[in-house]
Amino acid sequence: MSPAPTSETPPLRLNIVGCGKLGTTIARLLADSGLVSLGGLYSRNRENAHKTLQFCAGGSVCNTLDALPRADLWLLSVPDDAIHSLAGQLAQLFPDWRGTTVFHCSGIHTAMLLAPLKQQGASTASLHPVHSFADPQQSLSTFAGTSCTLEGDIDSQQRLSALFSTIGARIIAIDGSSKALYHTATAMASNYLVSLMDMSLGLLEASGIAPQAAKELLAPLVMQTASNIFAKGPQKALTGPIVRGDRDTVATHLDALGQHSPELLAVYRELALVTLALAQQARPEAGDLHAEIGKLLSCTPRSLS
Ligand SMILES: NC(=O)c1ccc[n+]([C@@H]2O[C@H](COP(=O)([O-])OP(=O)(O)OC[C@H]3O[C@@H](n4cnc5c(N)ncnc54)[C@H](OP(=O)(O)O)[C@@H]3O)[C@@H](O)[C@H]2O)c1
Repeated sequence: MSPAPTSETPPLRLNIVGCGKLGTTIARLLADSGLVSLGGLYSRNRENAHKTLQFCAGGSVCNTLDALPRADLWLLSVPDDAIHSLAGQLAQLFPDWRGTTVFHCSGIHTAMLLAPLKQQGASTASLHPVHSFADPQQSLSTFAGTSCTLEGDIDSQQRLSALFSTIGARIIAIDGSSKALYHTATAMASNYLVSLMDMSLGLLEASGIAPQAAKELLAPLVMQTASNIFAKGPQKALTGPIVRGDRDTVATHLDALGQHSPELLAVYRELALVTLALAQQARPEAGDLHAEIGKLLSCTPRSLS
């Protein structure tokens, strides 16, 4: 079993394959912790590996995959679709992977993608940081507190859990069979919030509010709502016409959308139905009013076209 690193043990050597945003940031964070020393840095475009070397002030650029040195840890930080074939390439180049931990950071895929290396002795894992690595410099100060879901071989889990806890990660064990659902949840929260804000800002502008004023109007409302959701839970955070049972207000929304933005009717209706179910749990005493809203929504066309 691979020993979990401590400040007493010599640093583990880490190779990075795929010098993009996540790989560069994780390399620097782990190297700064002192528990890891950087080994080989490989990216198909040598410039990217040189940028990682400069950012981390450590490691050595390898021009080809077969030039990568022996290492205790290998992070395959390439796009999700490239992980499995890269694992196959590495397995062909290096026959013996005993004693190594190889991991990737995809949110949707499991350690199974690394099977070619596991078959040759590697211990494998997937570790997904729920963090947006848009800017490596910024992530250095914002990574601490990031939740990271982890699954794979037990000894890899122990090693990675110890390492990533040192750089401030909150480790959450996840069953590999749940990763698709888990990733759907995080993508819905992050991506669809963006889409919803885009729709809302568009409607505000259509109602005559200038773009900057629209952002200033919406930002405190959204921040306050998010804060309420995480402090009190969705049921208690829910306000507005549906939970109050204001049927006529909902009917006016539907009319306004039908006239000005009929393409948004379907999304309004589907979200209203989800909101109605939440409202019924939050305020069961308003059952009759909610039933009226339910009737209105059920006879609303999904679109006018
Ligand atoms: N960015 C995030 O916010 C985030 C968050 C959580 C998890 N992740 C996960 O982290 C992993 C990397 O994502 P990323 O956002 O860092 O991507 P990225 O910035 O596009 O970096 C990927 C790097 O891999 C290199 N690459 C592509 N194909 C390769 C191959 N076949 N062999 C070697 N290198 C290859 C690319 O550089 P070259 O063209 O030079 O090879 C690129 O710099 C993915 O699994 C992703 O799901 C990302």
